[in-house]
Amino acid sequence: MMLNSIEAEKLLKKDVILSPGDLEKPENRWVKHCLNVGEAAERIAKKLNLDSDFAKSAGYLHDVGRKFNHPQHVIYGYNYLSSIGYEELARFCLTHSFIDNDINLVAGGILPEEAQMQLLPYLESHKCNIYDNIIQLCDLFCLETGFTTIEKRLLDIYNRKGVFSNTPEHFKRAISLKQNIETLMGCELYSLFPEISDKEKASSKADHKKIESLLEEQNIKTK
Ligand SMILES: [Fe+2]
Repeated sequence: MMLNSIEAEKLLKKDVILSPGDLEKPENRWVKHCLNVGEAAERIAKKLNLDSDFAKSAGYLHDVGRKFNHPQHVIYGYNYLSSIGYEELARFCLTHSFIDNDINLVAGGILPEEAQMQLLPYLESHKCNIYDNIIQLCDLFCLETGFTTIEKRLLDIYNRKGVFSNTPEHFKRAISLKQNIETLMGCELYSLFPEISDKEKASSKADHKKIESLLEEQNIKTK
């Protein structure tokens, strides 16, 4: 079964956002993040002449598992959407956290072995598609408060979570993901997001350099 983005938004908010004020509650910040991921995914998909309403629905529902459990939201979201017949959208609950559907390319260090065993068969059997990549990218620059730059977000992850064995490769591939989508679109990502201030856009170049030097320290070089 398929959902359009209006239905997807309703499903996202079901049992969580009961009145408009609920969206402002700190515990529901993740819902605002999902709304921003949906909005961003729609813009990028439109630019790529893809199904932009599908991309928007995927963005809205990628973190729906947070309704039930935060640390395991990936699995809970997948099981939830699958159980009610939305298999096509369920995949994004799993794939959004792993760049190019690679289980090692996740923020904050590779997963414990038990979680890897659970997720690996699924990720290996679902070849990464352009919609997976769009949601993976949007998840990196959409906050609950709006849009930021990938570069700023990666530095923020670095400062908050520190360096893990997979951090250099995760950063490198996150930057490549952005560059690949820009090549496909034929424009800069941030040109679709006038909400990001010029100052922030300008500092993304300096932030990129900082990321490069962090990666160089780890002997991995980005372009
Ligand atoms: Fe997310």
